[in-house]
Amino acid sequence: MKMKKFLAAVSSLVMLGAFTACGDSSSNESTNNNSNNNAEATTKADDAATEADAGADNNNSAAGKTVGIAMPTKSLERWNRDGEYLKSQFEAAGYSVELKYSDNNDNQQNNDIQGMIADKVDLLLIAAIDGSTLSQTLADAKDAGIPVIAYDRLIMNTDAVSYYVSFDNYTVGKLQGEYVVEALDLDNATGPFNIEFTAGDPADNNAGFFFNGAYDAVKKYIDDGKLNIPSGKKKFEQVATAQWSTDTALANMQNTLASYYSDGTQLDVALCSNDSTALGVAQAISSDYNGKNVPIVTGQDGDIANLKNIVDGKQSMTVYKNVSDEAGVTLEVSKAILSGQTPDASLLDSLSAEATYDTSSYDNGVKTVPSYLLVPYVITKDNLDKLVDTGLYQWDSANKYLESTASTT
Ligand code: BGC
Repeated sequence: MKMKKFLAAVSSLVMLGAFTACGDSSSNESTNNNSNNNAEATTKADDAATEADAGADNNNSAAGKTVGIAMPTKSLERWNRDGEYLKSQFEAAGYSVELKYSDNNDNQQNNDIQGMIADKVDLLLIAAIDGSTLSQTLADAKDAGIPVIAYDRLIMNTDAVSYYVSFDNYTVGKLQGEYVVEALDLDNATGPFNIEFTAGDPADNNAGFFFNGAYDAVKKYIDDGKLNIPSGKKKFEQVATAQWSTDTALANMQNTLASYYSDGTQLDVALCSNDSTALGVAQAISSDYNGKNVPIVTGQDGDIANLKNIVDGKQSMTVYKNVSDEAGVTLEVSKAILSGQTPDASLLDSLSAEATYDTSSYDNGVKTVPSYLLVPYVITKDNLDKLVDTGLYQWDSANKYLESTASTT
C-alpha cells in the first residue's frame, strides 16, 4: 500500500483549496461524493483516487459505498480540519461521504447519526460530543449491520463500536507535564512554584486521559511541595471546562486570578489540556494577571491562533497531533472492515504514520475497544518548522506566523 504517495496526492488536493472555510457556523453539513464543483480540484481528486486505487488492495472495497462521518462542531478549529481531511481522503479512495457537524449538541448528533443510518451508510465514523449518550443510536446501527469506528474520542457504554482511532491521549498530557518539569528545571531548582490546571470537557473521554497524563508527570513535585496549587483545585472535576469552551476557560482563569493571585502571588504555570482552553487562559493572563513574569501556558492541537500566541510568547508549547495522519489511519481501518477483514496490529506495517495498536487501554464500560493510537509531539517556538514539514502549515508572507496551507482557518 502506497500510503505516503497517497497522502501526498491528498495533500496536494488539500493545498488547491478544496476545503470549506473554518468558522462557517452552519450546523448541518451534508456532502456527497465528488460534489466538488472546483474542476481543478476534482481532477486532482480523481488523480488521487486513481493513485490510491493503484497502490491499494486488489479488492476494491470502495465501489458504491458510503461512509457517514459525524463530527462534533465547527466551532473548534480542529474538527473542521478532521472533517475535511476525512472527507477528501475517503473521496479520493472512491467512497461517497456524508459529513455532519452537530453544533456540540448531543441530541442533534444522535439525530444526525440516525439520519445516516436511515440513509443506509456502509460505515460510521463518529467523534462523539458526549461519549455516553450514543448507546441507543449505536444499537440501531448494529441492528442495521453498520460497523462503527470511534474517531478520536472513545464512545462509551456500547458493544457496537468496533475500533477506536485516536492519539495516545495519556501521552499528550504527559508531554505537557514533562514540558513543565523541564522548563522550571524542577529536579534542580528550589522553587516553590505555583501551578493551576485547566482541563477539558467531562463528556469527552479523552479529557481525563489528558489531565491524568499531565498530573502524573508533575505529581511528585506537588507532593514534595516544589509545586503549589494556590487555588487548591487539583481534581479533574474542579478544573474541567464544559465543551472545551474558550470563554469558559477565560472566565474560570479570571476568577482564579482574582481569588488567589490579586495579592501579588506569582503564577508560574497554567497547565491547559488543549489549545481552545489555552486561548482563554492566555487572554485572562494578559488582561487580569498582575505579576511581572510570563507564566508557562501549555496546549494541544496546533490551532492557528495558538501558534500565533506561541510566536508572541503568550503560550509556551502545544502538543501537536497530525490529524491528516489520523484520517489516513482511519481510512485504512475502514477499508479493511469494508472488505471483510478484521484489522489488527499488522495493519500498521504498511502505514507511514507512526502509531501503535493497543488492545488494553480503552475500556468503554462494556468492552475494551481495540485502538490505533498515533504519536503526538511537542511544538514550541523553536521547532515550528516541524509543522511546515508536514505540508499542512506554511509561513505567512511576513515570515512571522504560521498559517494553514488548506485555508481552513
Ligand atoms: C481532542 C482534542 C481537542 C478537544 C477539543 C478532544 O477530544 O482530542 O484534540 O482539543 O477534543 O476539541
